[in-house]
Amino acid sequence: MLITFEGIEGSGKSTQANLLSEFLSGKGYEVTVTREPGWGHLGNLIRTIILDERKLALTPMAELFLFCADRAQHVKDFIEPRLKNGEIVICDRFYDSTIVYQGYGRKLDMRLVNKAAKASALDVTPDLTFLLNLPVREGLTRLKERGSITKMDEEPHEFHELIRQGYILIARREPERIKSINADREIPAVHEEICSLVTERLSPQ
Ligand SMILES: Nc1ncnc2c1ncn2[C@@H]1O[C@H](COP(=O)(O)OP(=O)(O)OP(=O)(O)O)[C@@H](O)[C@H]1O
Ligand SMILES: [Mg+2]
Repeated sequence: MLITFEGIEGSGKSTQANLLSEFLSGKGYEVTVTREPGWGHLGNLIRTIILDERKLALTPMAELFLFCADRAQHVKDFIEPRLKNGEIVICDRFYDSTIVYQGYGRKLDMRLVNKAAKASALDVTPDLTFLLNLPVREGLTRLKERGSITKMDEEPHEFHELIRQGYILIARREPERIKSINADREIPAVHEEICSLVTERLSPQ
């Protein structure tokens, strides 16, 4: 089973991905947490280019294909083998991030973005996606408190607003897969809701 976490910067994706992993391991499941971009050697190189290289003025199209290159390698070498083995993989961002950031955020042609995002996942679709829904201002405040900022975090407020709205739109289109969670609550409350939705999915009535 593939479970992915999505949402604006600072919405709690990494926090909740790790808590869910602990919960599932505690229940005896074989589970790993991974993230995009940035798994493996290629992923780390790509992550540095996209998020940290301040001298590079990446064009939106270049950015699109870097994210997709990262995903193609990550799915083939890491995610797919584990899914075939019956394990649970939790991925901190997946192709919905590409659709929302490069499509709604950078305004590239949506058909191209959709195609590239899904093709790069090699026909792997998340079974369950949690959209951590949080007002932009709250996410940015949390990031300032956390203290590690990337190039994406420094985008203007309007960009993050486009991202938030983009996520809300795609969640409406696929309500079975994408569960929108109110992330403007304490960490344990968000975690509890996520655990109950995953438990329901693992053992349907
Ligand atoms: N529900 C919450 N309430 C308050 N603070 C939170 C909550 N969830 C996470 N945080 C804190 O907010 C900061 C951002 O959380 P986290 O790193 O999990 O977000 P993220 O979505 O992974 O961010 P990024 O997009 O930068 O990867 C962290 O310092 C975390 O401890
Ligand atoms: Mg994170």
